[in-house]
Parts: sequence; structure tokens; C-alpha cells
Amino acid sequence: MLPQDMLALGTKRSAIRELFEYGKMRKAIVGDDKVYDFSLGNPSIPAPKEVDDAITELVQNGDSVLLHGYSSAQGDANVRKTIADYLNATHGTKFNADNLYMTCGAAASLCISLRALLLKDEEVIVFAPFFPEYVVFVEGQGGKAVVVPPTKTFQPDLEAFEKAISDKTKAVIINSPNNPSGVVYSEETIIAIADILKRKSEELGREIFIIADEPYRELVYDADTVVPYITKYYDNTLVCYSYSKSLSLPGERIGYILVPDEVFDSKNVYASVCGAGRSLGYVCAPTMFQQVVAKCCGKTGDISAYKKNRDLIYNGLTELGYECVKPDGAFYLFVKALEEDSNAFCERAKAHDLLVVSGDGFYCPGYVRISYCVSEKTIIDSMPAFKALSEEYKK
Ligand SMILES: Cc1ncc(COP(=O)(O)O)c(C=O)c1O
Repeated sequence: MLPQDMLALGTKRSAIRELFEYGKMRKAIVGDDKVYDFSLGNPSIPAPKEVDDAITELVQNGDSVLLHGYSSAQGDANVRKTIADYLNATHGTKFNADNLYMTCGAAASLCISLRALLLKDEEVIVFAPFFPEYVVFVEGQGGKAVVVPPTKTFQPDLEAFEKAISDKTKAVIINSPNNPSGVVYSEETIIAIADILKRKSEELGREIFIIADEPYRELVYDADTVVPYITKYYDNTLVCYSYSKSLSLPGERIGYILVPDEVFDSKNVYASVCGAGRSLGYVCAPTMFQQVVAKCCGKTGDISAYKKNRDLIYNGLTELGYECVKPDGAFYLFVKALEEDSNAFCERAKAHDLLVVSGDGFYCPGYVRISYCVSEKTIIDSMPAFKALSEEYKK
């Protein structure tokens, strides 16, 4: 007998992966350039040159045994110190190596953080729309996800948020810039969330943690877009960071968890993170890539390509009459489907070889997600198909 929940997760592919596989199959039949695949959030720009330079330098001049060997379970101390120094210089914080735990990307960071914090059946609040794996991660660590419904602007509904907090709430996940909406939560919003949490924690006599899921932190496109650094607004914040998107390294599985000293009982929370990492088998994140990211602090790929894509697709689709909130960051556009049933809309889009993901999985029916981390040509070539699709609905 196998655990049915794991069997179900492994048997049923995620809707996004399913669509991506369908796209590959269609491309083999009609040709690569005839299928407009907007399904996956896989970076489309290369890693910055500094990444390749760091790899070359490490391979040519590093000690091969050390480079490919185990590091400390929580990650190399010098790497953690370099990242802490970078964060302090950027955000005016006071972190040190002992606040950081290196991980295999944001997915591992989230699972470890949840495992470190949650007692059985405790609740984690998530703001729709959100990355569908949150529910898998929360339930996998014994918790329950409590969903706050979306607003029209995709900024969190603060009233609904306050009502969702119960005596079982242990954490809130904040993801900004957001997957799938591309929205950046304003400073005003972060301050309001922090105020609600401070008041409620006091009222309930228990700590409520923010888990800031930040793989898209650097992917913002306008000079006046500021992504507030949440630890500065709310003490009980753990940051889950990943280099998957900022350095275009999703296959290398590298990121970290930050547990600031300001967190309540921080030494024990950090120890629990180490324990959760151990229990889940996430010790010693890839050693060579720990060194690589330490050499590339503050670097990104050429994100001007994403900005160009964002403007192309946002302007193109709104001119055709599609409705969407202009995304400030990440590489997603969340568009209102042209009928209530977003799954049916996705099916009709598929007939035009337009592969977009239904909002249902993001807990926001009636919308579809378009990942614009594709070539500029794909966006330009897809416009006639989007036009034909919208015209179908006018008949
Ligand atoms: C919001 C969000 N969180 C976490 C992840 C997982 O990222 P990683 O590849 O670093 O595990 C993703 C991946 O797309 C994401 O969009």
C-alpha cells in the first residue's frame, strides 16, 4: 500500500507541465514557430556573463575536491557571509552568515521553512492568485492552506485577510513580484499586512510568520517600482530566495532561506530550519553553485529583454481588447479570459496553437496566465492568433 496523496501527486501532472508537453508534441507536428507556447516560467535570457566567468575561474583555479565536495549542511560559511554582506549593503540590514541557510532553490526553501514552522493542521494564508505548488508544499508539511480571494488589482484584500486569521494561523506567504499576476505589492500594502499581523499576534498570543517568497525580486521593469524588503516592516519574516530567475539558473537548484535575528526565538527557528533541511534531505546545497552565486551577488541576466516583451505583449493584447493589469515585475501577464470558464477559453486558445494556462490552478478562475519569458518573435508572431481568438468571441 502506498500513500495515496503522494501517488496522486505523482500520477497527475501539473496543468502547466501537461500543457508544456502538449506544446512539444504540437511543435513536432506543425513546426516550432507555429506553436505559441506561453506555458512555462522558464527564463528565456541567458545567465549573465559573470556566471560563466565564475564557473570557468572555479574549474580552472579551484581545488576540485573542495569544489565538488560536501559543504557544511547549512552551506559554506564564506558564501553565506558574502550574501549577508550584499543584502546589508543593498537593504541597510544587519544580517550575518548565521542568518542564512543555503538551499536547492525556492521550492526547497519553502518546504524547509514550512516544515520548520508548522505543527500539524496549523494554517498558512495565501493570497490568490498564487503559485499552485504552495498548496502542495503546505499540505506536504502537515499544514492547511487558507486562501484569501483575489481583488481586481491583485493587491491583497486586507479585510478578507484579517478575517482569514484564526487561532491556527502560523504563517502567511507573500510573493511579490507575483506569479501569476506580475503585480508588485506596494509599500502601503506591506505596512498594512504587517500592522494586521502585529495586532492579531498580540490578540491571539502567538507568533504569526511571514514567509516572503522572492524568486522574482530583481525582475522589475520601471524605475519607480520598489519591492519593499519585508524584514524591515515585520520582524517575524523568513525570506525564501532563489537564483532561478534572477541569474537564469533554474536547473542548478540554488537559493537560500534567511532567518533574521529579529525573528522571535530566532536561534531556535534557525535550528528548526536546519532540522527541517535535514529531515527533508536538503542539506549541502550544490557546492559549486554556492560559490558561483557568491561571486555574482547583485548581478542579473539582461532583463531589458523581459521589459521589451512585457511592453510588446501588454500593448498588443490590450489593443486587441483583452483586459489585464499591467505587470510591474516577474515575467507573467494575467489576462481576463473572454468567457467565464477559463479552462474552456484555454481549449479554444489551443485550437489557435496559443498555449496559455488557466487561472483555476492559481485559485483565480476567469483569468489565464501568459508567461512572456519567450522570444520576442514568438510574441510578435502570436498576435494574429490572439486576434483571431478574440474575433471568435465577437461572433
Ligand atoms: C512564486 C514561485 N515560488 C517558487 C518557485 C520555485 O522556484 P525554484 O525554481 O527556485 O525552486 C517558483 C517557480 O517558478 C515560483 O514562481
